[in-house]
Amino acid sequence: MMRLLLQILRNNSSLKSELNGGTKASALPKLFSRWLHAPTQPPSFGIAFDIDGVLLRGETSTGGSPQALRRLYYHSANSCSISALKVPYVFLTNGGGVPESERAKELSKQLGVDILPLQVIQGHTPFRELVKRYEDDLIVAVGKGEPGRVMSEYGFKNVLSIDDYASCFPNIDPLAQYKKWTKMQPTDREMALRTDPCSQRVQAVFIVSDPVDWSRDIQVLCDILRTGGLPGQEIAHQPPLFFANDDIAYQALFPAERLGMGAFRIALESIFNRIHTNNMEYTSYGKPNPFVFKNAENVLLQVLQSAYNNIQSSGEMQPFKRLYMIGDNPSVDINGAKQAGHPWVSILTRTGVFKGIGNHADYPADLVVNSVEEAVDYILRKEHTS
Ligand code: G3P
Ligand code: MG
Repeated sequence: MMRLLLQILRNNSSLKSELNGGTKASALPKLFSRWLHAPTQPPSFGIAFDIDGVLLRGETSTGGSPQALRRLYYHSANSCSISALKVPYVFLTNGGGVPESERAKELSKQLGVDILPLQVIQGHTPFRELVKRYEDDLIVAVGKGEPGRVMSEYGFKNVLSIDDYASCFPNIDPLAQYKKWTKMQPTDREMALRTDPCSQRVQAVFIVSDPVDWSRDIQVLCDILRTGGLPGQEIAHQPPLFFANDDIAYQALFPAERLGMGAFRIALESIFNRIHTNNMEYTSYGKPNPFVFKNAENVLLQVLQSAYNNIQSSGEMQPFKRLYMIGDNPSVDINGAKQAGHPWVSILTRTGVFKGIGNHADYPADLVVNSVEEAVDYILRKEHTS
């Protein structure tokens, strides 16, 4: 029997190299199972899932998302892992606050499938590209979760979260004593003192995730931005300011949408422009920027290669004919997919920001469905993949 298996595997050109490279007998069952799952041709389409309002509301799954994702794996597989992935997909969210590796673990638990860090594209993921520019400079990272750790893991060497930064300036927040929830000790005081932020200029500010304490953050950011990065000092040139997204609102657990990073940006900008001579300068990342979709396309190709590495090695990888963006926010997800153009197809769900009956008037999607489960069902039928 084993000889027969080996004969079949050797006759399959895509697995030949692996066997010739010296596959151990113990690895054969796994190898054979991957060969059984994989079709001769990889799919010519892929999917990008928005998270908030499509797959999750708060921490809870919505719209039948676990079932929808399971349909993207081979039924015969024991687990929903990359080796059993039938349809390449990524998560394309404007959210964040934790490193992609950690978010992949959280999503795997919440959605019941094995997700690779590669499949997680967050609003702040493109900040990685700025490491060369600010690698050793003092930068401040703002937002919920662990914005400092996110930036350190990207390679920024001299980063402080706004919590740690603010704690180095006594009385910078006159309302601190009334904030019963705040910790009196900085989370990483040692690091804060080592970098001596009171004498070093902040070279750039990154809004990594939704800011938590708007009053303190607006105050401290106005201080940093107006003084060229040295709160309490004279007015100087504004250091660069980057936002991970510009979402005015997003869908969480509460029935009506919640204010997002774009709302915080408007609040900060309105105040800054009122108290400062020059207008606030900033750059926003995230959807709907078309470059986010271009990057997602490249990542989807990498996911396809990981899932179908046997086919890729024989040089048969083709560009995608269609990429589906499933989102809940017309001005962000649908607008972004439209701007990105071919091969993007937009699908709008009614589980989040959009709750209309027909299509959206200003940013009509190619298809409107009730849930992500319906969207995946449509895609698999259209692509003749079941
Ligand atoms: O804070 C999260 C929010 O701005 C959007 O998340 O997954 O809907 O792009 P998402
Ligand atoms: Mg959303």
